[in-house]
Amino acid sequence: MAQKMAITLNVNGTGHDILVEPRKTLSDALRGDCGLTGTNVGCEHGVCGACTVLLDGVPVRSCLMFAVQAQGGELRTVEGLAAAPANGGKLHALQQAFIDNHALQCGFCTSGFLMLAAGTLEQQPDIDDASLREVLSSNLCRCTGYQNILRAVRQVRDAGNGGAR
Ligand code: FES
Ligand code: FES
Repeated sequence: MAQKMAITLNVNGTGHDILVEPRKTLSDALRGDCGLTGTNVGCEHGVCGACTVLLDGVPVRSCLMFAVQAQGGELRTVEGLAAAPANGGKLHALQQAFIDNHALQCGFCTSGFLMLAAGTLEQQPDIDDASLREVLSSNLCRCTGYQNILRAVRQVRDAGNGGAR
């Protein structure tokens, strides 16, 4: 067994000091070592996007990265979207829009879609419909709720509050 490495992952503004084997994926470290199980793992080989998190604002597939590669970066996961309970717990605009537009069924893909959409709207707040459809097509929803997901993200884009709660 490879020797474990001591690393710090900065997730949602909090430092997590963890011991991981060099081959441990970021998704496994987030879930198993940081206790942040909102990031789901589906295919484990970069196809489904369920494991999407933001690294320095960019959506990445956390099953395709090693945890050690994320050292020094700012990670954001679905747990960081809503305000902290102490600050009122208000949902992120995307979370509210997903609820309002019935954009989730089983919910397995939802955290990945939320992080993909959050990163996209923060970088491209005026993204056009065709490009948005193209971006969202990179994640899979086994329940096939794509139209409602698209509707929810468009609603947030049109309200101009992609990064807001
Ligand atoms: S679990 Fe990472 S892309 Fe499917
Ligand atoms: S809501 Fe079930 S996989 Fe997308």
